[in-house]
Amino acid sequence: MKKRKVLLDCDPGHDDAIAIMLAGKNELIDLIGITVVSGNQTLEKTGRNALNLCQYLDIDVPVCLGADNPIIKDVEICEAIHGESGLDGFTFPKLTKTYDERRGVDFIVDTLLNAEEPIDVVTTGPMTNLALALRVEPRIKKNIRQVTLMGGSYQFGNVTPAAEFNILVDPEAAHIVFNSGLRINMIGLDVTHMVKVLPSVVKRMEAIHNKASKLFTKLMKVYNENQYKVFELEGGPLHDPVTIAYLLDEDLLEMKHVNCEIDLSKGSSYGRTNCDIFNYLGKPKNTYVAVDIDVEKFWDIVEDAIKKYD
Ligand code: RIB
Ligand code: CA
Repeated sequence: MKKRKVLLDCDPGHDDAIAIMLAGKNELIDLIGITVVSGNQTLEKTGRNALNLCQYLDIDVPVCLGADNPIIKDVEICEAIHGESGLDGFTFPKLTKTYDERRGVDFIVDTLLNAEEPIDVVTTGPMTNLALALRVEPRIKKNIRQVTLMGGSYQFGNVTPAAEFNILVDPEAAHIVFNSGLRINMIGLDVTHMVKVLPSVVKRMEAIHNKASKLFTKLMKVYNENQYKVFELEGGPLHDPVTIAYLLDEDLLEMKHVNCEIDLSKGSSYGRTNCDIFNYLGKPKNTYVAVDIDVEKFWDIVEDAIKKYD
């Protein structure tokens, strides 16, 4: 695979942190910037977490504060899983890294409009920043290679029976992105629930004994404790890093090209990613949805990523 430029929009968040880890030191990824959105915690906290992660992992990229709220709805956070700080479980050294002076939407627009080669945009939180950038400056589409997002599900939700968190926090933003005409790779709960951070996985990564493995181990301990409390899961699904892992090895996932509509009705299915998996309606196919994952390959990618740190 040729080295790719990647712009990551996220809401750190324990699993977002591992996505940053996978993208931060890989010779196949040129991480050109991180934009942050409210989601797992408030923007103030997700932003601070992104700065701390980049400083601790020595990832020298611009970090920009994005949207403080969804486009229409009020912000909903996920403190039960990610804790009061949004990244409970690890104490970072004194923070000295500061934000880039540009707001998230401005960074996305400036970077994409002036890109000299197509850029992979990855979102691992609510898609407010990307949606607003597309609305403010649709010309950025010419320089977006594809959008790879963690969100949705063609089967079940994790906040309501129908809706997954990233989509439900800002369904209108998701609607804008899914209807942008861009190539959409939707990595949903269908596959992320197949990569749970079981105790054996924590043990495997802990044995690497570097600063990244220490971060992984401490964060996953709290993440798993909370996932058990909320969902009685023996190991939390490691949602967000699947996006980066897919960019690193597209054979990781089996994708199905489908029509996907975001349910914007205000009923019990609000925020559902309605994927027409069996093409009942024959509508235009706008989304590649992940339907299977090579679990062993995923953990190998995670282990390789952690080993790239000091
Ligand atoms: O539903 C899982 C998603 O919501 C992940 O991105 C997690 O970080 C939270 O943002
Ligand atoms: Ca996230």
